[in-house]
Parts: sequence; C-alpha cells; structure tokens
Amino acid sequence: MRTSVRPIGSATFEAPPNIALVKYWGVRDPERVLPYNSSVSMTLGRLRTRTEVRFDPGLADDRVVLNDAPATGAPRAAVVAMLDRVRDRAGVDARAAVTSDNNFPTASGLASSASGFAALACAASAAAGLRLSDRERSRLARLGSGSASRSIFGGFVLWRAGTRTDGVDSYARTIFDERHWPALVDLVVLVEDAPVKAVRSSEAMQSTVRTSPDYPGRLEELPRRIDRIVRALRARDARRLFPLVMEECDSFRDVCETTRPPLDYLTAPSRAVLGEVRRMNREAGRPLAAYTHDAGAHVHVFTLEGNLARLRARLGRLPGVRSTLVVRPGPGALQVGRPRSRR
Ligand code: ADP
Ligand code: DP6
Repeated sequence: MRTSVRPIGSATFEAPPNIALVKYWGVRDPERVLPYNSSVSMTLGRLRTRTEVRFDPGLADDRVVLNDAPATGAPRAAVVAMLDRVRDRAGVDARAAVTSDNNFPTASGLASSASGFAALACAASAAAGLRLSDRERSRLARLGSGSASRSIFGGFVLWRAGTRTDGVDSYARTIFDERHWPALVDLVVLVEDAPVKAVRSSEAMQSTVRTSPDYPGRLEELPRRIDRIVRALRARDARRLFPLVMEECDSFRDVCETTRPPLDYLTAPSRAVLGEVRRMNREAGRPLAAYTHDAGAHVHVFTLEGNLARLRARLGRLPGVRSTLVVRPGPGALQVGRPRSRR
C-alpha cells in the first residue's frame, strides 16, 4: 500500500449551479466527457452546493452523505470515481468522508450535478493537497459531470468543446463576469410535482445523438448561434439575446422530442410558462423575456429588472406554478473557511 506523500486533510467548497444559454447535449467521448459542441451558461447566484471532503486514514471505506442521507448506488459511485481520480493524482490512499448539501432541488433540472461535481472536484483536490488552477479544476469537474466544468466560474461562462482526443483543451472560462450586466435577471419558475430524473442527462443525451434525425442539423447551426449569443451578451442587448435564447431552447427541446424513445422533460405547467412568455412578448411587441430550461420541468425566464414585477405576477399565478425565485449572475466555486492539514 502506498503512503501519502503530501499533507492531506479536509476542505470545504461551495459551488453554484448554472443555466445553459447554449446547451451541452451529446458527447464524442463518454469516458473523457468530451462534448460535440461548445456551450454557454450563466452561473446562478443564491443556489449553492456545499461539500466537505475529509481524507481520513482511519476509514475503511469512502463515506458519502448527500443531502443528509447516505448515498448508495450510482450517485455514490460517481462521487467515489471522482475521489479515485484525485487520489491517483495526489498519491493519496486514505478513504474519505464526503458530506454535501444542495440548497435547491436535486436531479430536477436545476443542475445539481453541475454544482455538486464542481464543489466535489474543488474540495477533494484541495483536501488531498493538490493545488490546481481553475482551468485544471474545470477539467477535473468535467469528468464528474460535463456541465460542472462551467460551475467553477462566475458570471457568463463558455465551455469550449476542444478538438483534442485527450481532452486537455476542453474546459470552461468566464467570458463576462457577474458584474457585467446588473439589469439582467433570471426568474426561476419552480413548478409543482417536477419529476426527479431517473436517467442522468449524460446518458439521455447519447440516445439523442444516436436516434434524433435533427441532431446533425443542430450541431451545424450551433457555432453561429453561439457567436450571436456571445455578441448580444457583450453588448448587453436583450432585444437580440432573448429571441436567440428561446431559439436555442426550442432546438434543444426539438432534439429531445425527436429522440427515440422521446425525451420529454416538461410538464403541463412548464409548457404553460413557455406559452405565457410568448404571449407577453407578443403583447409587448418586443422581446420582454426569454424562457429556457435544461433537462427538467422547472423553467428559467430571463428578463430585465424593470419587467420583473409584471412577469413575476403573471407567471406566479399560472396553475401548477409552485413559486418563483429571482436569481442574478453569481460567483464561481469558493473555498469556505481555512483548510486543516494533517501530517
Ligand atoms: P440535475 O438536473 O439536478 O443536474 P441530473 O440527473 O443531471 O440532475 O444529476 C443529478 C445527479 O447528480 C444526482 O443523482 C447525483 O448523482 C448527482 N449529484 C447531485 N447533487 C450532488 C452533490 N451535491 N454531490 C455529488 N453528486 C451530486
Ligand atoms: C440540458 O452535464 O448535467 O443541462 O452529468 O449527467 O448530470 P450529468 O449531465 P450534465 O448535462 C447537462 C445537460 C443540460 C445542458 C447544459 O447544462 O449545458
């Protein structure tokens, strides 16, 4: 058995989920989590995963507690796989105690896997004594969950797909920080009875790659759409941005619906939210707001601060809407407290 050569101990990190403005959907290499397309997201303020990792030579096995319950099966295996990667790199043998809490619903399309694996990658590597750059953390987090590569960073984030087979050039970075566009808000519309996903997105997306006839066309369109979205963000131009965000969301939903068997993440209340946003935009004669959703029933509605009250009142009273939450762009992963070191 190898012994630890670096100081090991514990570390706690918080990391945010993110909402994709351009969706990551499809991998060219599932093992290394290398996507077919680049993606763009906004890092969500207020929503956090907080994860503590403590390497302890006295433990016989890894102990993983998620949201106050011992993790088992696939969720535990994914955490242990991340710990193994870190142990390998750091030359650490000790097992770890991992405690992680999400302050928002898990596995319902609010990107708990993104915040969860970003927090875990940061906490585990720091606890093992590795000093990683944000770029290295992004690559490490990517191996736990693709979208986690973006949750290392704050503000508006671009994850470049990269072209290399080893994945070294597939990582995310901030393109505009969280102070870039103070008037832009994301109204998260939480719907009642949002199903908890049985199949992780990383698995579901591969059936789209295999079976959706629209997938190749989507991939062809994406570089141009990404370029236009980045320009609209840079110019803080809601009139240009909002239609593009909805176009992208519709393209994502289309390839899900044309997957065999179809992937349908929305519920009747989520569809009502999309319909109401379209209606409000028609009534206003301009893009007042933009809807988007990931692989889940909750809907994100972007708008400018001045429209927020009106939008919140209209969407909040739709049947099946449980609550709304105002979220602004937030910072990336952050260490909590000071790490304690052993040996
Ligand atoms: P979501 O839309 O919330 O990202 P996914 O189904 O894509 O849903 O991912 C949910 C999975 O992510 C969970 O089943 C679990 O395996 C993992 N996960 C969620 N939160 C955490 C966490 N805090 N720490 C580690 N893994 C987590
Ligand atoms: C629709 O990277 O979250 O949210 O690791 O299986 O959870 P898992 O997959 P993940 O897939 C994200 C899919 C998406 C789009 C996006 O966030 O870019």
